[in-house]
Amino acid sequence: MPIPSFQRFHLPPASNSSLLVTGGAGYIGTHTLLELIRAGYQPVVLDDFSNGSHLALKRVESLAGHTLQVVEGSITDTGLLDAMFSSAAEHGSPIQAVVHFAGLKSVGESVAKPLDYYQTNVAGTLTLLQAMERAHVHTIVFSSSATVYGIPLAQPYTESHPIAPVNPYGSTKAIVEQILRDWCAAHPAHRATCLRYFNPIGAHPSGMLGEAPEGIPNNLFPFITQVAVGKRPHLNVFGNDYPTVDGTGVRDYIHVVDLAIGHVKALEHSRRATTGFVAINLGTGRGTSVLELLHAFQTVSGQAIPYEFQPRRPGDIAECWADPSTAEALLGWKATRTLEDMCADGWRWQSQNPNGYEP
Ligand code: WQD
Repeated sequence: MPIPSFQRFHLPPASNSSLLVTGGAGYIGTHTLLELIRAGYQPVVLDDFSNGSHLALKRVESLAGHTLQVVEGSITDTGLLDAMFSSAAEHGSPIQAVVHFAGLKSVGESVAKPLDYYQTNVAGTLTLLQAMERAHVHTIVFSSSATVYGIPLAQPYTESHPIAPVNPYGSTKAIVEQILRDWCAAHPAHRATCLRYFNPIGAHPSGMLGEAPEGIPNNLFPFITQVAVGKRPHLNVFGNDYPTVDGTGVRDYIHVVDLAIGHVKALEHSRRATTGFVAINLGTGRGTSVLELLHAFQTVSGQAIPYEFQPRRPGDIAECWADPSTAEALLGWKATRTLEDMCADGWRWQSQNPNGYEP
């Protein structure tokens, strides 16, 4: 008879700045763990390792000089969540807040498997929130997305842009945001900060952490770095007939370390906030086309990136970039790293780790 997952571990004592970080072994999660530790937090990581890496967490520990508390499991496991919250409390350092990354995140896959996305991203978050309520944990920072906006009525996107997602992935993020709005309205102590990511790219400057997509990358930047390191013959540019500066798609690329720091700022804001729910764009406020990013990467890396124009990718929009003024006003946060920094750090990671976290 297998031992139930929540009896398989015993959390050692943690300090009184304990956080639960779900999905902490992923691309954005690992970069954020590093910044949280540096800010003095004691993260407890819950990850099912479906898209995360044990090696990445070891590297976080090495970079931070800190031993992480890691539990392998799912946010849908009620017993495991209850045991994690109660164990931390029994050790005199109850979990103070949750940073919630765990979820499925491919737009294309969500169209093919919507029920998986609703189960994990929506039902999983509900399970997490119910466990938080039982443990009297009132604060959450949620990994949301600019995909909640859907087709832009105007650019740049402000937080007041209508919420009209056009794919199941974006719908799951919008539904969770609504759940969090209602959760905050139900109790004056509840705090929810929804961070609407634009396009996170790049890697930690050490070259030890970075993006390691499974299989063929869906996203532009990891595809470019894999061409540069010789794993892919060329880049397919999806569409060169958009009404943009050069006909290719325009996005707001943000350095993953800037994004990670935004989460630390969001936690600090939660502690002083007087209102429960807030949604905040995390972007640079600058749009960059596919060809502009490709040329910047070539210049920085010295690697030629062969490419071929292909038809537009279904579901893509022409251009998308953030108005980041709310983050600056509320969080005192602003992206500082340049496109060249993103390219240089991303290339250092990929060239030092041609197979990502695989041997
Ligand atoms: C960017 C541009 C493509 C690949 C993604 C995620 C979404 C969200 C934001 C978290 C587009 C073009 C791409 C390629 C290309 N993340 N492209 N060739 O679609 O903006 O959204 O980041 O919330 O979940 O899907 O990013 O990198 O896929 O595409 O020409 O091989 O690059 O057409 O113009 P996207 P992307």
